[in-house]
Amino acid sequence: MTAAHTLVTGATRGIGRAIVELLLAQGQPVVGLARRPDPGFPAPLVCADLGDAAAAAQALAEVAQRWPVARLVNNAGVNQLQPLGSITDAAMAQVFDLNCRAAVQCTQALLPGIRAARDAAGRPVGRIVNISSRSLLGRLDGSVYAAAKAALVGFTRSWALELAREGVTVNCVAPGPVATEMFERNNPPGDPRRDRLLGAVPMQRMGAPEEIAAAVAYFLSPAAGFTTGQTLFVCGGASISQIHL
Ligand SMILES: NC(=O)c1ccc[n+]([C@@H]2O[C@H](COP(=O)([O-])OP(=O)(O)OC[C@H]3O[C@@H](n4cnc5c(N)ncnc54)[C@H](OP(=O)(O)O)[C@@H]3O)[C@@H](O)[C@H]2O)c1
Repeated sequence: MTAAHTLVTGATRGIGRAIVELLLAQGQPVVGLARRPDPGFPAPLVCADLGDAAAAAQALAEVAQRWPVARLVNNAGVNQLQPLGSITDAAMAQVFDLNCRAAVQCTQALLPGIRAARDAAGRPVGRIVNISSRSLLGRLDGSVYAAAKAALVGFTRSWALELAREGVTVNCVAPGPVATEMFERNNPPGDPRRDRLLGAVPMQRMGAPEEIAAAVAYFLSPAAGFTTGQTLFVCGGASISQIHL
């Protein structure tokens, strides 16, 4: 039997890519999923748009059939900033669809393998990690994203309850601002929002994707087998700051 794999969605760039590289460095096999091919990707990569439920179903069936996936990182997500008064149905549908519906779809598609996964001693080793955001605590001009990321905490805690007796853990990582393409796209240099965001981080800097990956790798590890339903903020202290992001 091939070693248990981890599926990372949104794997080719940013936080997802850092998770993939850390797991590979730890000797753990990984499968990535993203919309576009990436010739330099260091592991098998399945390409599908998780916003297209039918295409995603096909890709996830292929993953489940080709690799013994014991661990899942629901990382793919999207953010659209729209202040209250300007929220569009289209943006709301897209943000909830990719951050929430697709995470449910990925989890359900891989659940049989995650439930069945065992280590050499026969102990359950199934793991699910959802990538939320510090924004779940409240985000100026980003209430739809905040709500979608808060929903992921609800999923995390409820799935943790449902799977606890089977020894499968479900946890959540909530990053603060991290230097990725998504962050640069939403907060370009010169945008006053960017200075406001960084000014609200007590550590006065952005996080690195590798710092988020370290928290994810902990939740995925055998050592974290008694930790479930938790949300870890990796945000330079922004979750305890009194200044609003
Ligand atoms: N960056 C931050 O400051 C920050 C803070 C808090 C939380 N987060 C969360 O962390 C996660 C990763 O964010 P990131 O900043 O690392 O993003 P990113 O740099 O924009 O990377 C996104 C990754 O997801 C893939 N992807 C995007 N849309 C997809 C789709 N519809 N289907 C499949 N794959 C898709 C992209 O590849 P393709 O384009 O080829 O599909 C890419 O590999 C997200 O859930 C985000 O909400 C980010």
